Amino acid sequence: MENKFYITTPIYYVNDRPHIGHAYTTVAADVLARYHRLINDEVFFLTGTDEHGKKVFDSAIKAGKSPQEFTDEVAADFQDVWKTLNISNDFFIRTTADEHKKRVQEIFTKLKEAKTPLGNDVLYEGEYKGLYCTGCERFLTEKELVDGKCPDHKVAPEQIAEKNYFFRLTDFLPKIQKRIENDDLKILPAKRKAEVLGLFKQGLDDFSVSRESVSWGVDLPFDTTQKAYVWVDALSNYITALGYPPYAKATGGKPDDSEKFKTFWPADLQLMAQDILKFHAIYWPAILLALGVELPKAEFIHGFFTINGQKMSKSVGKVIDPRDLVKKYTVDVTRYLLLSQFSFGSEADVQEERFDEKYNADLANGLGNLVARVSNLLEKDNIEVNIKIGSDEELKKHFDNVLKEFKIDEGLKLLWDKLRKADEIISAKKPWEIKDLNEKKAVLEPIAQDILNVAELLQVYIPETAAKIIKQFSEKNIKKGELLFPRI
Ligand code: ME8
Ligand code: MG
Repeated sequence: MENKFYITTPIYYVNDRPHIGHAYTTVAADVLARYHRLINDEVFFLTGTDEHGKKVFDSAIKAGKSPQEFTDEVAADFQDVWKTLNISNDFFIRTTADEHKKRVQEIFTKLKEAKTPLGNDVLYEGEYKGLYCTGCERFLTEKELVDGKCPDHKVAPEQIAEKNYFFRLTDFLPKIQKRIENDDLKILPAKRKAEVLGLFKQGLDDFSVSRESVSWGVDLPFDTTQKAYVWVDALSNYITALGYPPYAKATGGKPDDSEKFKTFWPADLQLMAQDILKFHAIYWPAILLALGVELPKAEFIHGFFTINGQKMSKSVGKVIDPRDLVKKYTVDVTRYLLLSQFSFGSEADVQEERFDEKYNADLANGLGNLVARVSNLLEKDNIEVNIKIGSDEELKKHFDNVLKEFKIDEGLKLLWDKLRKADEIISAKKPWEIKDLNEKKAVLEPIAQDILNVAELLQVYIPETAAKIIKQFSEKNIKKGELLFPRI
């Protein structure tokens, strides 16, 4: 039976231009989406942009544009970058889209009526006095400050006192903790699960779900002095994109407009880095429980990387636009370089000068050279091969095992191990020295077969290159093709 697979990336803030941090998550999600399509699952792959809140509003003003004009422009830029990187998302959600906003309002209406597991109202009115960091779009506690400043954004938070609606998180905590403990909601890798469980021990407070002094956001349906807190607006995207709640009532939409929600929710995997783990592992499940909606099955938290030792952000450090890498290296090479820099779950520093090195080692000398060598030798003596795609059950099984656990970089390693072994066989058997054509064929044919098998799985990482290799190696008389990766 065919399974469904729903995968999401965070929706990125439009105050920033797309950079390789966003690209890393999105390419990783694309690999998993393509993998699940390859094994014939029904896939829904969602990405998008987070366009409300004070931070985005301030950026628009700074750019001398209206917020809508500004967000239209940056959202288009994100869509452009994903097209350039060959991202196969099924939908791109924008939180300023009418459909999303209406659904967020319905979500708030539901929350207003909802009760906690202890029978209390989920939402209650209160006065918020606290320190707000616009860069983080959240309230900070005194304890979190370093020299009076937000440790991430290096600016002093604003002192805010305003009316807010609060979400009674405390009533939901035992339930959420249990779901995480017993892996109903898998938080991966294990160290992140431990980190989240640690938060429960430290204690967690109710959180504010609306803002009074913010103008750029979704109106609360029951109190127009308030805008939805940007994080509740944003997290909701994962279900509004599927048509939740069915909004026939609010918009005159069709009664079956939540068909996708029925098919694809709960999410099979939500991807992100650890900067937004708390929102996804604690607040998001709480909101879903309050709505009576199932929790996602898994969240995978990959590492947050620095570039040449520096944080990537507009204010400090260096920002690399993925399109610059594509111009220099092509799409597939960019995808490969992003994913192969470091292990999927760990933090790392990405060094730009390592890109050329890695390109030459793995692509020019590795895959590219092997394909060129083998096709060359086959063409030279006009050797006919009889090979078929997808015949290596063992390789597929290993690959399935690692990708089902979302270990994207290990999948790559597996394929490169196979290529390396093929290379070793060639170097050892020196087919170019073999005079007898049958003997020569006996060496080259299994290697051509390996290349074809690897190419099948490589489709999920570097689709254009993989398609070229598959085409080239599906001929009886394999010809030397164009050089895939010229050395730099
Ligand atoms: O937090 N290394 O948006 P955001 C690895 N709008 N991943 C990185 C990265 C880096 N240096 N920089 C960014 C938000 N990312 C909210 C999310 S979701 C309902 C709302 C990736 O634009 C990584 O996935 O700040 C990280 O979690 C995300 O971009 C943060 O994107
Ligand atoms: Mg951020």
